[in-house]
Amino acid sequence: MRFEAFIFIVLFLTARIATVYGKEVPIIPKPLVSTPVDEVFVLTRATPIIIADKEAEKTGYFLQKELLKHTGIPVTIQDSGTEPAIVLSLSTDSDLADKAYRLTMDAQQIHIMSSDDEGLFLGTMSLMQIIRQTDLKDSALHLACWHIEDKPHFEWRGVMLDESRHFFGKETVKRILDWMAFYKLNRFHWHLTDQTGWRIEIKQYPKLTLVGGIGNHSNPLSTAAYYTQEDITEIVAYATERHIEIIPEIDMPGHATAANMAYPEFSGGGSERYPEFTFNPGKEAVYEYLTNILREVDALFPFQKIHLGGDEVHFGNANWKVDISVQRLMREQGLETLKEVENYFIRRMADSVFSLNNEVMAWDEVVGADLPTKGTTVLWWRHDKPEELRKGLDRGFNTILCPRIPLYFDFVQDSSHTIGRKWQKAFVPIEAVYGFPSKELMDYPNADKLVKGIQANLWTEALSADEHIEYMLFPRITALAESAWSDPKQKDYSKFTKRLANHLVLFARAGLYYFDPFDPKKFPEYLSPVQRNNIAPDFEELMRQEQKSTD
Ligand code: ACM
Repeated sequence: MRFEAFIFIVLFLTARIATVYGKEVPIIPKPLVSTPVDEVFVLTRATPIIIADKEAEKTGYFLQKELLKHTGIPVTIQDSGTEPAIVLSLSTDSDLADKAYRLTMDAQQIHIMSSDDEGLFLGTMSLMQIIRQTDLKDSALHLACWHIEDKPHFEWRGVMLDESRHFFGKETVKRILDWMAFYKLNRFHWHLTDQTGWRIEIKQYPKLTLVGGIGNHSNPLSTAAYYTQEDITEIVAYATERHIEIIPEIDMPGHATAANMAYPEFSGGGSERYPEFTFNPGKEAVYEYLTNILREVDALFPFQKIHLGGDEVHFGNANWKVDISVQRLMREQGLETLKEVENYFIRRMADSVFSLNNEVMAWDEVVGADLPTKGTTVLWWRHDKPEELRKGLDRGFNTILCPRIPLYFDFVQDSSHTIGRKWQKAFVPIEAVYGFPSKELMDYPNADKLVKGIQANLWTEALSADEHIEYMLFPRITALAESAWSDPKQKDYSKFTKRLANHLVLFARAGLYYFDPFDPKKFPEYLSPVQRNNIAPDFEELMRQEQKSTD
């Protein structure tokens, strides 16, 4: 061989190895192991999905539907068939337990394996990410091949949506569930009741929605908006198909204003700034009323978890000091402070939840309420009170981390933004979401055992339109997903941004109104008509007050 030819071959091979091995897998969240395979799989309408095990059937049909929706390619489902094919099968390989999956690809076969249906689904979502980032040419997809071994870091990977302050409706919720599934997020915490509106139909107490559903944060007189029980059933089925659990929140004993508009007989009154804010913990009928509500909630949501709220009760419990029922309760039960009354109330309602064979979820104010640790999960949200996280972990509570900073997605993500929260100029750029949780937090005693995961919370005082929701979620949802799913040792922000750039293309294609962190001026903040006319409440002032009154 001539010397030049030899050099050429060496250079060619070096370049080839560099392209193949320097390649960034196009998947968010980053898989545990991903190795490029130097082959191409051509997917066309003639490519069958082969269901090798009966248990893989549901995921097979889901993949078939997703392929049609996102690529227009109608493939068929088969029990057996000839290659090239996509094969879904269960495996007893111990590496594939606990939602782990393996995705192998070569020119002949795409094979997804797991020990259960959920793992197969997760593998399918990885495949769909590769598929949706490949352009269709002559009705075929030429897929670059990968070998992927993957499993979740945290079991709880959540998003919360507040529909009390503004109501968005079924289509918005379904769209969020779609993207959650795409990014392997698996818990949807649904904040359905609060001061502004009650959004879930309860048959025994129809005024909760007919009266309590009136108004939103932009307009106190807007017509009643809420989910019927039929709507809830439809959304539960939609989430279940995507392996997402829904956790309904019925906030108590504070944030009860909307319910109290409907049934004032159960109100415990409020404070000057927060009138009619609480349920009355001194009245036996209140426990019966709320337990009846929870019985219907339990029947609607099959996930056996109910969130009782429990936050910020002190904002509006001043009236308890003069309410004769509360005062009698304090004497009879030997309760000395309003915090002890609050704890008593939470214990009673937690008992109701346990009697329904559900687990209790609640905000971090409940860590001192003497709830049983078994069956109770605490959501740590007060980022400025790490001692509350420590206390919860010391006492042995399973814990979800959702501190305001950096996991409240109603905080703005760019210093120039004005729609959403800022605290003393602190805001939540995508990089901060990516950096969470810090090693320091995870080094708290018991954190490795008891922290079950992380969650982003989308409060909606400032957000009234789909465009607002999209702008706050996209692209931060991708960083959330990687922080929740990927092995912390695998995380690398600069490599993440390379993958993210291509995911922004998917957002654009889906018609989402997203924030572009690479080009912040590309899409300005969306202004709703109310915001355009500058008649929205003064959120800066609201948040300053909130900060002052946090205990
Ligand atoms: C909360 O942000 N009040 C939980």
